Amino acid sequence: MQLVITGRVDPRVIQEIIARRPDLTLKVWNESGIISREQLLKWAEDADLMITMLTERVDTELLEHAPHLKIVSNMAVGFDNFDLNALEKSQVLATNTPDVLTEATAELTMALMLLVLRRLRSAEDALRQHHWTGWEPDGFLGLELYGKTLGIAGFGRIARSVVRRALAFGMRVNIFTRRALKDLPENVQQVSWEQLLESSDILSLHVPLTPQTFHLINRESLSRIKPTAILINTSRGAVIDEQALIEALRTGKLAGAGLDVFETEPLPPDSPLRALPNVTLLPHVGSATVETRLAMAQRAWHNILAYLNGQKPPDLLLPKLWPDKT
Ligand code: DGY
Repeated sequence: MQLVITGRVDPRVIQEIIARRPDLTLKVWNESGIISREQLLKWAEDADLMITMLTERVDTELLEHAPHLKIVSNMAVGFDNFDLNALEKSQVLATNTPDVLTEATAELTMALMLLVLRRLRSAEDALRQHHWTGWEPDGFLGLELYGKTLGIAGFGRIARSVVRRALAFGMRVNIFTRRALKDLPENVQQVSWEQLLESSDILSLHVPLTPQTFHLINRESLSRIKPTAILINTSRGAVIDEQALIEALRTGKLAGAGLDVFETEPLPPDSPLRALPNVTLLPHVGSATVETRLAMAQRAWHNILAYLNGQKPPDLLLPKLWPDKT
């Protein structure tokens, strides 16, 4: 059987694969840059098993090129790159990697809040460019997290992990989610969507990208946010209507933004976001720690290994495709 891995994963996982299943033929994308679509479709032809990155679209076209494919394991918690209908139609199993990137992404969310609120990027730039003339009482002033209201859209694992950190920073937290929440800790409350928008000093997005969350932040929602607020996005770019965001940032309807994800990745060279002084832009690094990327690769492989051992993969996305129908 052939296992295709479409990205450069931690070598320790490759060693584990070879040790545990020496019978597998391995094809790993070890070149620099992302595998091209053309190469991916070519490799898919002989693939029985695949570990994909979030940059690979797994859709009807790919599945038509992969007649032997049995399982595709996404090395990401988000799986908006998967066409689940097409996978179901082709009876190809699909998995993701929940849990393992929760803490790294929550840490990055806090880092973005601090970067934007404390204006750390411009403070560091000033120092590097020899504009720091000494400590001054009004030098490089930002705002603090302490005492601010953090609004959180979504209440999955990453959101909960952000809440824990925000409370430790002395913030109040408002959460918007459709399901009713019980036993919330002190300083945390569930609010309506409108209340979330209107009350947040910082609004952080922690929802998956689905047809329902596409452009959740748009002209209308931005018009309800306080002009002093900042927006943080470590989920998926298309949860925000980027054009509307750019307009709000340019016209002072929103004070700032910290973005780790974009509607188009990599961010196009001519994106107006690059020129805005009140945004901090990161290249989708929420999970980019050695520990987490190792854990993600292991989890993606363990889903494949479970399948090879005749066991239900732990992170099955379409459980109805598993023969026991659980
Ligand atoms: C995911 O796993 O969905 C993250 O975006 C990866 O950083």
